[in-house]
Amino acid sequence: MYYPDELVEEVRMKNDIVDVISGYVRIQKKGSSYFGLCPFHNEKSPSFSVSQSKQMFYCFGCGAGGNVFTFVMQYENYSFQEAVKFLADRAGVNLPEMEYGEEAKKRESQRARLLEVNKEAAKYFYYQLRSERGQAGYQYLRKRELSDETIKKFGLGFANVTSDDLVKYLKSKGYEDKLLTEAGLAGFDEKYGMHDKFWNRVMFPIQDSNHRVIGFGGRVLGDAKPKYLNSPETMIFDKSRNLYGLNFARTSRAGNIILCEGYMDVIAMHQAGFTQAVASLGTAFTAGQANLLRRYATEVILAYDSDGAGVTAALRAIGILKEVGLTGKVLNLEPYKDPDEFMKNLGREAFEERIKQAENSFFFELRMLQRDYDLSDPESKTRFHREIAKKLCGFSEEVERENYIEAVAQKYHIGFDNLRKLVRSYAAQTGLAVPASRPKSGIQKKSDPEENKKKPQKLLLTWLVEEPAAYQKIKRYISPSDFTEDLYKKVAEKLFADLDGGRLNPAAIISQFTDEEEQREVAGLFNTKLMELESRADREKAFHDIVLAVKRNSLDYFSSQLGADVSAINQVIEGKKALEELSKTHISLD
Ligand code: CTP
Ligand code: MN
Repeated sequence: MYYPDELVEEVRMKNDIVDVISGYVRIQKKGSSYFGLCPFHNEKSPSFSVSQSKQMFYCFGCGAGGNVFTFVMQYENYSFQEAVKFLADRAGVNLPEMEYGEEAKKRESQRARLLEVNKEAAKYFYYQLRSERGQAGYQYLRKRELSDETIKKFGLGFANVTSDDLVKYLKSKGYEDKLLTEAGLAGFDEKYGMHDKFWNRVMFPIQDSNHRVIGFGGRVLGDAKPKYLNSPETMIFDKSRNLYGLNFARTSRAGNIILCEGYMDVIAMHQAGFTQAVASLGTAFTAGQANLLRRYATEVILAYDSDGAGVTAALRAIGILKEVGLTGKVLNLEPYKDPDEFMKNLGREAFEERIKQAENSFFFELRMLQRDYDLSDPESKTRFHREIAKKLCGFSEEVERENYIEAVAQKYHIGFDNLRKLVRSYAAQTGLAVPASRPKSGIQKKSDPEENKKKPQKLLLTWLVEEPAAYQKIKRYISPSDFTEDLYKKVAEKLFADLDGGRLNPAAIISQFTDEEEQREVAGLFNTKLMELESRADREKAFHDIVLAVKRNSLDYFSSQLGADVSAINQVIEGKKALEELSKTHISLD
């Protein structure tokens, strides 16, 4: 069952694409469109565009594109129906009940049940913290200087000393044993039967970026081991693709993200107003998490513990950030151990100051490296400089590399030319530091014959969307059947019908396709890179060439169908005539 077209269109119109996408990606207005870093591929300079007037997005780097549904489908990994549902909820539109296929239904219901039981558990822990029996937990959190407001914001709770009261509670609510163990909330053994996983701990519910509870971390009240116990990974809890605090940080708009090591650090940061703080989930920072962060910020400030383990973890994180194209900076928290302690002792202004002074991650790496060398010994010093040169090869972009060579030379008192020579020789040896390849622009001529047929058709569709008035000039020569690709033809049928009716709504055309790949391709048809031509004469010539090429290709196509397709003969006759006329006609664009 599908939702009716009118309803889909209503949902689409009530969800402005700029609004929706800004909730996920930092975009800035430039000219008539908004631009930002594409959330669907790695990039350093923005090629992801969102058009408010067209209600479409398109990435000129990777070709991702579509309307607001496509975006949500790709970003949240939803099906078309799920995306419609999600956006309907967002805009307060009521939808009729949908029927899912058997498999999808099962999967969906298992996910939904896991989310439900986690939410129920979170509510239970939350309630316990406020009860008589939870006083130890509540006092513990207060002693750590968390306000009631903060405790509430993060939904902190308490798991009792009793070892099976959560199990009892959830069972009374009708959740079966199997679900409780699958959710990692309970365990089973022969001797004790079903028992709670967490007891006598303050509980930190872990939320996904949509505020849904997907797991827990539980901390002992004292010094017992293990200090933290975390939920295992489940169908809804992927530790490498979620971050603690991201549900708040994603909308903080601070321009940077503060990456901490611990839950308590994140909470202390948010309490002090640094709502851009996040932490990984009891595991090392991963590339998946770095990718997630890339959607919200270009700069990540590392606020790791200042001990040896913290430094090692920071060095690893820097490498991971670099790989996805994020710039890292490192905070100096000395003389304190972690952000939580720093905040308690020096407060928010001092922390703000430390953010300003945060060290460029490359210099941080060099400073850490330097500890292994004795700079008063020329031999050791030379080895250090060689290591620096090797590291400098890691910058594949020439301008960036040169800038770093300059800065490093100055900082470490090395002759600029000498250092540069050294870097070049390492680069040559290792094949590193080759100039980064740039994405090819759409204008470049491809020698692929298939592409040469498609290109004019795409250009024409984009042109008509950009300049609907031109439609009147060509409708007597071009009809949807001149588009020889199936998908293009379907799109042209809809677009031409719209233009005949005097309305233009490319984003609505996209929702007529429910497949993500098709939506992407349609968005591509409306976003082909047109040449930027200054003079009217040049533009008219270009447009004329495009129309001519589309018609010629159509004629070729139908000529090849003669014999196989009885209607082809008419198309061929019509095509010949139109081409003849077109070659004599001037199409004016005014
Ligand atoms: N952690 C864990 N299991 C442990 C210890 C730590 O999963 N036994 C994870 C937790 O996610 C914790 C993070 O590693 O938040 C950082 O550890 P630590 O710095 O010890 O935790 P804090 O959050 O600083 O906790 P606290 O201030 O309460 O000591
Ligand atoms: Mn701590």
